[in-house]
This record gives sequence, structure tokens and C-alpha cells, in this order.
Amino acid sequence: MCGIVGYIGHRDAWPIIIKGLKRLEYRGYDSAGVALIDHGRLSIYKKAGKVKDLETFAQDENLNGTAGMGHTRWATHGAPSDRNSHPHTSNNGRLSIIHNGIIENYASLKEELGSRGHIFSSDTDTEVLVHLIEEVQEMEQLDLAEAVRLALAEVIGAYAIVVMDKADPDTLVAARKGSPMVVGVGEGEYFIASDATPIVEYTKNVIYLKDNELAVLTRQDILIKRLDNVIQTPKIHELELKLEMLEKGGYDHFMLKEIYEQPRSVKDCLRGRIYPEQGLVQLGGIKEYTEKLKNLDRIIIVACGTSWHAGLVGEYLIEEYARIPVEVEYASEFRYRNPIISEKDLVIAISQSGETADTMAAIEMAKEKGATIFGVCNVVGASIPRTSHAGVYTHAGPEIGVASTKAFTAQVTVLTLIALYMAQQRGKISTSAMTSLLTELDHIPEKIQEALSSDSYIKEIAAKFKDSRNCLFLGRGSGFPVALEGALKLKEISYIHAEGYPAAEMKHGPIALIDEEMPVVFIATRNSSYEKVISNIQEVKARKGKVIAIVTEGDTEVRQMADYCIEIPASDEAFLPLLATIPLQLLSYHIAVMRGCNVDQPRNLAKSVTVE
Ligand code: G6P
Repeated sequence: MCGIVGYIGHRDAWPIIIKGLKRLEYRGYDSAGVALIDHGRLSIYKKAGKVKDLETFAQDENLNGTAGMGHTRWATHGAPSDRNSHPHTSNNGRLSIIHNGIIENYASLKEELGSRGHIFSSDTDTEVLVHLIEEVQEMEQLDLAEAVRLALAEVIGAYAIVVMDKADPDTLVAARKGSPMVVGVGEGEYFIASDATPIVEYTKNVIYLKDNELAVLTRQDILIKRLDNVIQTPKIHELELKLEMLEKGGYDHFMLKEIYEQPRSVKDCLRGRIYPEQGLVQLGGIKEYTEKLKNLDRIIIVACGTSWHAGLVGEYLIEEYARIPVEVEYASEFRYRNPIISEKDLVIAISQSGETADTMAAIEMAKEKGATIFGVCNVVGASIPRTSHAGVYTHAGPEIGVASTKAFTAQVTVLTLIALYMAQQRGKISTSAMTSLLTELDHIPEKIQEALSSDSYIKEIAAKFKDSRNCLFLGRGSGFPVALEGALKLKEISYIHAEGYPAAEMKHGPIALIDEEMPVVFIATRNSSYEKVISNIQEVKARKGKVIAIVTEGDTEVRQMADYCIEIPASDEAFLPLLATIPLQLLSYHIAVMRGCNVDQPRNLAKSVTVE
């Protein structure tokens, strides 16, 4: 959460920073701020609201300077206001800082600094840090980098920071622990940001800063050292990211673009991994662990949010095909229990961003206890894939809409592949059964395309239910996690209260909510629980609920009782989640747009949750 971007070079810093902040807004959009240094003068502009509000606010100012930094905030300590916006400055007005993360011991540091005369002008933990750096710098007459390094030794918590000193206008100092940072290496210029999106149009050469590293950037050079003062040799990576992946490409919203990208993103995810004719799945990222897979006691899936829902689908698939017991855990709960983990366990961490703090902490704990860790991540080179022993990337491309869509279906695709790969390695599936499943999986991208063709009908349904106050989503089997994901999509972008439930559990509570006002969305495709779901639909209709059913094409039975039926192509039950999710994404999208909500940046949410 929070996006940070810095620049030092020969171009005007302001436009680079503003454009960068807009790209990083998915990380938080409570307030934005920029600091520029020009001829030894430090100027700071900051404003509650979006980056565009900051742009309007500062438009008449002198925005010169070829070094600067900017921040877009997701508030933790202190309300979203002008005064709590970053950058924050030291008491002497010399230093300024931007920060992503949480300084956990900020209260005690603040008290000590306060007792020594520091006056604070915000409620943030970040301001405390810049005062601490100032104190270390003044006390020991240090340069900025050394003052930052020594001050960080007193800090408990997570951070990615950039600090500037107006007495040293040709240097930016950055450091990270627990929050991501990428340095862009140009010619006579350097960029630094929370991810590569603000950098990609200027250079493809990047250095991923590691935890406990500090970078000193000047126009000519970069120095990276660990916080224990050992100099590091940076490794330059080439970015695969393309600029057009970060644009809306003619769609009204990133979310809609990403929904429509799914035939392609699922195809990208399958590419080179399935060989239907030979009945073979190949996953290069985990192949060194094949022996391990044959002797597993148990799999624990850890994740948060939408990724946790993908994990529930994974549980169905792995247990069904590979016959290994699976537990799916919220990373935030798992890490604070004292879970029983052994060397015979495999932990699969699922994360779009690869940076979620709770998921990261959960895998670190499991690793310490000897478990093998696989990462299922979208962002290449992020912290979770780097910390995992092995893994499978989802290759969905950058997902910018805060509500996850194509990343979810790509995660489910990877988990399907993992389930089949494990089944193959453990001898639980015949080659002919594999051939038939993989042949069908190979055609899933086309079936997703077909599912998207119901868009205009779904829009009509959305118009009928846009003013609902509640909504229930029900499914059985792997339709249950799909129902959970449908409910999450609706509540996060349209602010309609929605709940996902196993259809049979409805009788144990949610049925009390049903009246003629209540839309109930059923996953009612023709599969093993079809007849049971039909009974559940009847229970809702008997209480005058409005039923929207996701059905298999050509279905006639559900059509007789449901108020609206949205068809998806027929498929093996294994692939139901990949298809049934599509209409639910579109339904939420249209309802949210009709309600005038900001679908790409829903209130209070952030896409990358780097605080616990
Ligand atoms: C946030 C995002 C969700 C995401 C969750 C987990 O809540 O808004 O879309 O599912 O974090 O993030 P991860 O990057 O670990 O998948």
C-alpha cells in the first residue's frame, strides 16, 4: 500500500513523478504529494484526494527541478488529510521523506524525540522517521545516506522510503524492508518506484532492491549497500513489461479491459505447459520438486482476498485429482496461530502482487518450520516468488483495476495445472483421462470468449438490480468459492452488501434474509450437484426471492424457475470456476458503473496490501 516514485537526472522531475503516481494509484489514493529540489530550494506540494487533485492544486506553481519524489497514500496512521500527506519534513526543514509501510515503534520514538524538543505537524508514523534521521544526522554530522542507515537501525517495522536533503540536492537515498522497490537505470538518470510501471517508458533496465538494502542515487551513479554497511553488487534485470499493458486500450475502465483480456491471459498461462496429445502437463518452475510431490503428507494453501478464493478452488481440484489433503488458510490467521507444520508439508502461497505482507509472513514462518514453499504469483520478481523455493507464475500481465479479475482466473488456471501435474506425478490419473481433460482445458480460452458474449444481457440484469441493498451468491462444490468471489466483487466495487454461501448452508441462516427484494445469484450449471442446487433454487423461489442463475448453455430446467438465466458453455466440472466467474465479474462491473462508483479504485481499498 502507498506508492512511491523518485527521479534524479536531466529531465524535469514533476511530469515523470505525476505520471508515475497515476500508475501507482492502485496502491492507495487517499492523498498525494511531491517534493522537488531546484537550485538548493526544496518545494513540497501535497493534497488529500487523488493525484489529479494534486495536479490541479499545483498547476500554477513553479514546478522546476530535475530531482524529486512523490507519494500516493493509503492511510494507516492518521486520517487522509493534507497535513498527513507525504512527503514529510524534518524540524530543520532540510530533509523530506516518503514512506510505504508502518513504523511499529513510532509511538515510543515520537515520545523520545518530543522530549528532546521535536515538534510534529502530522499524525503519521512517517514524520517520526524523518525527525529521527535529522537527529542522527545533526548529532553526528553525517551525510544523508549514513544518517538514514543509522536511524533505520532503531526502527521496527516495514518500510520502503526515499529521503532527500536540500543541502545535498544531487542525491536521493532509498531503503527497503518488507515493502517493494525497483530502481530504473537510465543514462545519466535514475528512477526509483514501488513497482516498474512508472519506469518502463524511460528504461527497461532495472534493479530490484532487496530487503535491508539502501540505495544512494546520483545522476551518474548508484551505490547499493546492506543496512549493515556491506556494499552490494547490483544485478540489472531487463523488464518484460510493455507500456500498452498499462493503458486502458479503448475500454472505459481497466476492470472491463481486464475482464475482456481473460481469453488471452488464460491462454498465456497455459502456453507451453500442456501437451494434450501426450496427456502431459509440464511445469518447469516446480519440476525439481517432483520427488517431494510424491511423498507429501499435506498441502497448505495460504492467501488473502481473491487469492484465497482461488485457493479454495485449488483445494477441490488437488484433492479430486492428486488425492492429497489440502487446507486453505487466510494468511493473516495462519501466521498468528502456532500451526503444526513439518518438512513433509507443502505450502502454496497465492498472491497476485507477490507482496502481500500477511502472505509473505506466513510463508516465512512455514519455511522456518521446514516446509517447502511454492509461490503462485503474477508479478514477476516480487518478494513472494523470490522467497519461495519454487513456483508457477500466472502470466496474466499487469492487473490495474483494484478488484481482481484476470489474476483470479489465471490463479485458478495455474492451480488446475498444479492439481493435474501432481496427479500425473503421483500416478493418480490415466493418460487417456489426462488427454481428455487437457484437450478441453486447451479450449477454455474460447469458452471464456463465449461467456463474455452475454455481456449486454448481463447489463440488462444489472439495471434491474442496481438499487438492491443486499445480494446472496450461492453455489456448491467448486461453485461455492465462485459464489464467494462473486459476492466479494459486488461488495468491493458497488458497496452493495453481498454474501457468498454454500447453497445448502442457506437454510442455516441466510434464508431468513430472503424476501421479494432480495436477489440471489446461483451457480446452477449442469454438474454433480445440479439437482441439489435446483432444490435450493426452489427454496428461494418459495420465499419470493429473485433468482439470477448461471446455467449451462441449453439448460431448460432452471429456466423454468429462475427469473434470469445467464448461459455459459458446457464444460467438465473441473473447469466450471473458470467459466462461471466471468458473468459474475460483468454483473458487478455493470452494477457498480450504474451506481456511479469508481470501479477501478473503490473506496478504502488498495491493490497491494503491504501492511498487515
Ligand atoms: C487486496 C486486493 C485484492 C487481493 C488481495 C490479496 O485486498 O484488493 O484484490 O485479492 O489484496 O492480494 P494478493 O496480491 O496477495 O493476491
